[in-house]
Amino acid sequence: MASSRLSSTFWLGLLILASDVLVAGAFDISSTDNLAVYWGQNSYGATGGNTADYQQPISYYCQDDVINAFPVAFLDVFFGEGGEPSIDLANTCSTANDPVFNGTQMPDCTFLASDIETCQSAGKIVTISLGGATGAVGFSNASQAEDFATTIWDLFLGGSSSIRPFGSAVLDGVDLDIEGGSTEYYSNFVSSLRSLMNSGDKSYYITAAPQCPFPDAYIGSVINAEPFDAVYVQFYNNYCQLTEYDNANDWDFSTWDNWAKNTSPNPDVKVYIGAPAAQAAASSGYVDAATLGEIAIQTRQNYSSFGGIMLWDASQAYANDRYDAQVKSYLTGAATPVTTTTAPATTATTTATTTSSAPATTTTAATSGNCAGVATWVANVAYESGDQVVYNGNLWTATEWSYAETPGGSAGAWTDDGACTAVALAKGEYIKVAFQSKEAPLNVPPKVSAVPTASAASATAPARRNSRFFKF
Ligand SMILES: *[C@@H]1O[C@H](CO)[C@@H](O)[C@H](O)[C@H]1NC(C)=O
Ligand SMILES: *[C@@H]1O[C@H](CO)[C@@H](O)[C@H](O)[C@H]1NC(C)=O
Ligand SMILES: *[C@@H]1O[C@H](CO)[C@@H](O)[C@H](O)[C@H]1NC(C)=O
Repeated sequence: MASSRLSSTFWLGLLILASDVLVAGAFDISSTDNLAVYWGQNSYGATGGNTADYQQPISYYCQDDVINAFPVAFLDVFFGEGGEPSIDLANTCSTANDPVFNGTQMPDCTFLASDIETCQSAGKIVTISLGGATGAVGFSNASQAEDFATTIWDLFLGGSSSIRPFGSAVLDGVDLDIEGGSTEYYSNFVSSLRSLMNSGDKSYYITAAPQCPFPDAYIGSVINAEPFDAVYVQFYNNYCQLTEYDNANDWDFSTWDNWAKNTSPNPDVKVYIGAPAAQAAASSGYVDAATLGEIAIQTRQNYSSFGGIMLWDASQAYANDRYDAQVKSYLTGAATPVTTTTAPATTATTTATTTSSAPATTTTAATSGNCAGVATWVANVAYESGDQVVYNGNLWTATEWSYAETPGGSAGAWTDDGACTAVALAKGEYIKVAFQSKEAPLNVPPKVSAVPTASAASATAPARRNSRFFKF
């Protein structure tokens, strides 16, 4: 009958439309042009940019096909108040700006549930990233690590809990950015997590973000022991960073490719080139989009483990002329890098004068004894002469390049500038303390409830400064 034919044609049309959408947009781990971009830490705002470009809700970054995967940074406390974890999403959601679930320091970010689901329905994956250098993370025994896998499953993935920070949104996996604390028992955690994921009714992903020196000091043994889906290798803040691409003694993707094929329990594990999305997003290692595009294309030609590019972070990429979109266009072949086949050898030494497209690095200048805006020293970051850190309550200035050299250590790589006397906070800044009041602050800033279009961004909450991926 006519009505029946019409109806089946209609449904067939819908089906074709739906499957087209799924095929075109769904995240594909086996692809070699994926772009993974960290979201959550408002790196742009933390490095002193214009408030209009501060981090927006996650769906703001899902309005086109550019980004495929969003690790949400960070779950920075494993066992906090009430034995529960805590997350910190800077100006978007944190214990400082949002109410917490009773008896815990887990902020209630359920207003982000539909936001996250918007990204997922556009075919992107959203994972929770555990760690960051300031993270109070680690396990004291195997059973604690295994129990924590259940906690993560219940709070973020397919399980259930009364303190799910993103409510009904079911994230797509877990990213491990472990840069401190004990390195033990992560294998137990990952193994238990994988079992839970295998029992779930959708695909889940486990990734890690090692630094480029191989093997990674914290996560190296874990990625050797457990099957990861991808590693987002941080090719910045280290001697092996992107700016050293032409120096075969420093840049070394082949070691990672070899690890993927011969050591990882998952021989199909994908290796991403991790890059800063702007000059100010990292201490060192930034290259322009065309250079990164060229490096990625060359690397993909030679190494079948190459899976794409990771960027730190979304706020920096958007403020830096949509660095994410530029880089993606090289990955997909929509644009061809205009550079020659050689990357600039030492961008790091000339950055001050050559980075017209990068946001100005207007970080709070640290004067003697004033530690405002100066990050805490981190063991596995390479520091250059002139870099400043806070360590043991004092301000320190690097006299030479160093790596894992404790301020005050015998190598003399650091000058002690004395105690942090005046911590003058810039407008909108505050210092994070380990455990803030359970009560929501009296003046909770208004949320950015509607997702603005890319041209009409405005943030209302203060910037955070505690991301570990960069120092000031
Ligand atoms: C918070 O938890 C405590 C202890 O379980 C309970 O006594 C209290 O009533 C709870 N408060 C709210 C507002 O749910
Ligand atoms: C593991 O560590 C936790 C936390 O320190 C402790 O409560 C628990 O008793 C330990 N379990 C075993 C089996 O040692
Ligand atoms: C790729 O392989 C070619 C030929 O062996 C080599 O000349 C080139 O340097 C390699 N490029 C990368 C990025 O490893």
